[in-house]
Amino acid sequence: MSNPTEAELIHMFKGILFTTRSSPELLKSLDTFDAREDDVLLVSYPKSGTHWLAGVISKLYNTQVTLTSPIEFGDVSKLEELNKLSSKRIIPTHLDYNLLPQNFKNKKCKMIYICRNPKDTAVSMYHYYRDNPNLPTVDTWPAFFDLFLNGDVVCGSWFDHFLSWEKHENDKNILFLFYEDMKKDLPKIVKKISLFLGLNVSDNDIQDICKKSSFSEMKNDTEKENTDPSHTVCVLTTNRKLIFRKGAVGDWKNHFTPKQNRRFEEVFNEKMKLSKM
Ligand code: A3P
Repeated sequence: MSNPTEAELIHMFKGILFTTRSSPELLKSLDTFDAREDDVLLVSYPKSGTHWLAGVISKLYNTQVTLTSPIEFGDVSKLEELNKLSSKRIIPTHLDYNLLPQNFKNKKCKMIYICRNPKDTAVSMYHYYRDNPNLPTVDTWPAFFDLFLNGDVVCGSWFDHFLSWEKHENDKNILFLFYEDMKKDLPKIVKKISLFLGLNVSDNDIQDICKKSSFSEMKNDTEKENTDPSHTVCVLTTNRKLIFRKGAVGDWKNHFTPKQNRRFEEVFNEKMKLSKM
């Protein structure tokens, strides 16, 4: 069987690349989505630690919650499926703030944005692209490096994504988190998340959640699960090894040449000149 063509794998919607798993009809209909006040959105640019955060959040609740697949994945029937869920919904999304269904904004739903050093995000995404037949082929790291810096990857430019959300960092219903802070002191961040979500969680439970959310525990668990991709954060692969790859801070140093690092810094400084980051 021949490999799928690029057009079979990706398409452009409002200037941003999406995989064909996000149908244009679904993307066009997102604004009709009926958000509920108690929905919790888990927002990220891909490869920023979405699964990690989703794992932590699911464990924080002792009532029934449903972690859905990202709202933008699927066909036009997706919104109806989400509507049918009777339990509280934890909904991941990689959408730029401007594409987010308006109802989530009107209803001031709680949203948690997780951000990761874009250099590590780029490296993580490179491996994900390289090993995932559901994404266009990338032959080399230098080729992917250019695509990433130009925003010619799925979900568009890391810079645009981050900036669209950063504008709302003072909104009371949005919590900003950093992958690196989770690596440094997970209990502190889990406590912060529980306070934001209004959950009463004991210190012992927090310790327990952190233990169960370590990279090795999550990787082992996920390899044991019989995963249905339509019910996980990542619907582009059933190969969990692609998601739990290394889980480290600073892997970019093993990939970036000094010249690439200088170029990245230049673009970063230019694009982020109005950012507080
Ligand atoms: P690497 O490819 O650098 O290893 P996402 O869930 O947004 O797709 O992000 C995937 C990245 O988060 C991967 O990065 C993965 O290893 C890392 N990750 C997943 N679970 C983790 C955990 N429990 N602790 C640390 N990193 C984790």
